[in-house]
Amino acid sequence: MSGAADETNTVFGPEPVKARILLVLVSLVASVLIGLALAARGGSATGKSRDDGIVIGLSMDTLKEARWQADRDMFVRRAGELGARVLVLAANSDDTVQVSDVEKLITRKVDVLVVIPHDGTAMAKAVTMAHEAGIPVIAYDRIIRDSDLDLYVSFDNERVGELQAKFLVDHLPTPGKGRIVRIYGAKTDNNASQFKRGQDRVLEPYIARGDIVVVHEDWAEDWKPENAKRIVNAAITASGPGIDAVLASNDGTAGGAIQALSEEGLAGKVLVTGQDADTVALQRIAAGTQAMTIYKPLKTLTRGAAELAVQVASKRLVVARSTVENGHGPVPAALYDVVTVTRDNLLDTVVRDGMATYDDVYRGIPEARRPPRP
Ligand code: BGC
Repeated sequence: MSGAADETNTVFGPEPVKARILLVLVSLVASVLIGLALAARGGSATGKSRDDGIVIGLSMDTLKEARWQADRDMFVRRAGELGARVLVLAANSDDTVQVSDVEKLITRKVDVLVVIPHDGTAMAKAVTMAHEAGIPVIAYDRIIRDSDLDLYVSFDNERVGELQAKFLVDHLPTPGKGRIVRIYGAKTDNNASQFKRGQDRVLEPYIARGDIVVVHEDWAEDWKPENAKRIVNAAITASGPGIDAVLASNDGTAGGAIQALSEEGLAGKVLVTGQDADTVALQRIAAGTQAMTIYKPLKTLTRGAAELAVQVASKRLVVARSTVENGHGPVPAALYDVVTVTRDNLLDTVVRDGMATYDDVYRGIPEARRPPRP
């Protein structure tokens, strides 16, 4: 995942194709299954003929981080393979713009709305508006709170936080003991709270015993690297160089943290965590300035989301294996697994899955210090 950010609003996908009958087989495993019939919403309110094909509206918070560009491209590709068109609008982290984007997509009579909210609470309004127009809503990656959301598709976000904190605890210079800085994500993003909750669960006993001391902690507004940098600058000013690790909640904030550390000659000496497997973060892991990231297989998420969106738009029965509480009630959810990536398994995870190439990951690393090419 790489490439410059662009916030342009785009229409993707093939021209309308004749509606195809898709056979989607849902495997019924012996776990708790929640059947949800979405037939009540969608379809008739659009006033479209069958020949229009399925149109999915994708409202995105931002395209700034590399991962969101990959999400968009893979989602659109998979939807296209299923014969659906996707209208994409990105709001540049602005709630007013995102609400107006949703209005535009409703006016375009999309069959289903897929939303990555900037503010998970503010976008409850979008769910109400869409439902009034008979359009079902799927929250993608980030949940929309306090709303009658139809479906939520994401990773197990508390697990992400647990894996980050577990890695940190186990890899401190003295395992289980040390002085750390915590950088949380955007307060407006429900995921940021879920990552924190997972981290808290692991760290609490160590903090309670006084083995781990949090010297400084703060939320990075809008997940911006420059805000993360400021947080680490403040930590260094307050506590001097006595920091063993920075528990950064994603790769963007890890990047800001590492910039602050390198200005003090501390990059590579202080453990830094991350999340997203951004190419630049993988390069930092190869170089030793970032210790780990969490790889969230976007291929799985985007394929799953696109397939579910088409099922929902076609008014077929969707089966969800879990639920997530959003303040209004339990929302049927599809949650996918995540993987810890370190220097030791770069090749067996992200490179093997084609998320980054060998050459990208080891760019800047002298040939002699690279692992054998797979
Ligand atoms: C996502 C992360 C991402 C962050 C910033 C979160 O909601 O789960 O993968 O790094 O937003 O965009």
